[in-house]
Amino acid sequence: MIKDEIIIALQQVTGSEDIKLDMPSNKDHGDYATSVAITLAKRQKKNPLELARELVSKLENDSELRRVVSKIEVADPGFINFRVSDEALVDNILHPLTPSSKLEEGQGGVLSGERKAVVEYSSPNIAKPFGIGHFRSTIIGDAVANLLEATGWKVYRDNHLGDWGTQFGKLIYKLKSVNRENLTIKDLVDLYVEFHKEAEQDPTLEDKAREEFKKLEEGEPENRKIWQFCVDVSLKEFKRVYDVLGIKFTENDGLGYGESYFEHMIKPVIDELQEKGLLKSGEDDAKLVFFPDDKYPPLMIVKKDGTTLYATRDLATDKFRLDKYGRDVVIVNEVGAEQSLYFEQLFELEKMLGWVKEDQRVHIKHGFFRFVDRKMSTRKGDIIWLDDVIAQAIEKARKFGSDEKLSKTVAVGALKWNELKRDPIKDIVFDWDEILSMDGNSGPYLQYTYARTASILSKVVPEKQSISEPFDEKEKSVARVLIHFPEIVQSAAINYSPHVLANYLFSLAQEFNSFYNAERVLGHEREEARLLLTEAVGNVIKKGLDLLGIEAPEKM
Ligand code: ARG
Repeated sequence: MIKDEIIIALQQVTGSEDIKLDMPSNKDHGDYATSVAITLAKRQKKNPLELARELVSKLENDSELRRVVSKIEVADPGFINFRVSDEALVDNILHPLTPSSKLEEGQGGVLSGERKAVVEYSSPNIAKPFGIGHFRSTIIGDAVANLLEATGWKVYRDNHLGDWGTQFGKLIYKLKSVNRENLTIKDLVDLYVEFHKEAEQDPTLEDKAREEFKKLEEGEPENRKIWQFCVDVSLKEFKRVYDVLGIKFTENDGLGYGESYFEHMIKPVIDELQEKGLLKSGEDDAKLVFFPDDKYPPLMIVKKDGTTLYATRDLATDKFRLDKYGRDVVIVNEVGAEQSLYFEQLFELEKMLGWVKEDQRVHIKHGFFRFVDRKMSTRKGDIIWLDDVIAQAIEKARKFGSDEKLSKTVAVGALKWNELKRDPIKDIVFDWDEILSMDGNSGPYLQYTYARTASILSKVVPEKQSISEPFDEKEKSVARVLIHFPEIVQSAAINYSPHVLANYLFSLAQEFNSFYNAERVLGHEREEARLLLTEAVGNVIKKGLDLLGIEAPEKM
């Protein structure tokens, strides 16, 4: 990519390996900018402007670089700005880099060794609704996994189903007294709610539920059977959601390793904690880990009745991952921000155990979700079923065409884009008008822009290799956005930030639409060049949407 060529040239003239190349905040200043002269001048106690000028005069003699860069300028207080050459702008379009093709190879110099990551996302709970939070995790996690894969990582896609824990004691207790035929996940949730109501009247129920869970942990066949029933009913439901959303996992035959999988791997972890002197008894015989200098509150590992917790199972899970995928695997959990403290405790403990290094554990946190639409407010006990949200989206997307398949593609794309267009940590105010808007930052807007390029190209197919002159100024403003695609994908991947790619695609779509609204493509004397430009825009949008897990229909 163009960026790499500039970096290599800068490495040669500075002798520094560590070159950062950004996009200047003002596009008029160029396509790339570096502050390396400022950094080096500080170190060498030189004048940054003078050093920048010195470097530029050397760069100007670099014939390789001069092919891709037409202007190199110094700006206060020592920045060096680069303007990509006309030749390179055209070249980029005739030989576009796509993440699936050259990007991986191009990364060779940047990365050392094979990088591997477990990306864990979705992770809904058995016998509970597939919540909006799980939806956020599903969409963001899937996009992160796609981005890592596209930049050369080996990715293991895992789903940490919440299929174990004391709540199953409560459900088993209830399920023993009802006819289980034809129950759905909604019935299971109702039974759970009922249990809590009854337990308010009769607190001994809590003990009975604990007993049922203990029996389940001990492998009692009847309780196992009822538990399996709950898992089956729930998975059927989750699978429907994953099918609509086009979501897949690679681990454990596509099911993901749920919490229950680790049940029998817990003892060695507790032993290791004990051996390393990390486990202390609490007041009532529960076992806890205390952190040095009370950096975090203590983390409970074993309850007073001997049963295990969420944290215990997470430790066993990560131990399993490190054993299975290698000690250097990066483990990424896409989970709501409300679990931030918990994950900090978990990561700290895994470091104390000597299992992982600093950058090896990543928590991608998403914020909360609110509905502006009053009818969908989350009143107490009033559950929002994701199914209903998807069905509503499909209903509303019918305005984009009568075709059922298209409505689904647009609806799912709109819901996904709404998740991916902003930093996950930001709260979302769910607003149908925004989500399905045709002229704002929305899924349909991006899909429509792609369909527009496809429609132009369906009329005339450009013949390659045929641009003899450089782009004109109007074409250039589009071509200049296109050159940044590969590095945007890299940066989105490295920072686990799909929104970086989404924001880029949105500005590309805007740039292209304003070009297209003001200029002719078909029948213009520069038709050939403009068709190639249109094709390149379409390819980048399609590829970009694909990385975000969003389909791009040919017609809309
Ligand atoms: N099932 C959990 C929940 O719904 C999320 C699991 C997140 N992953 C993990 N390794 N703890 O809250």
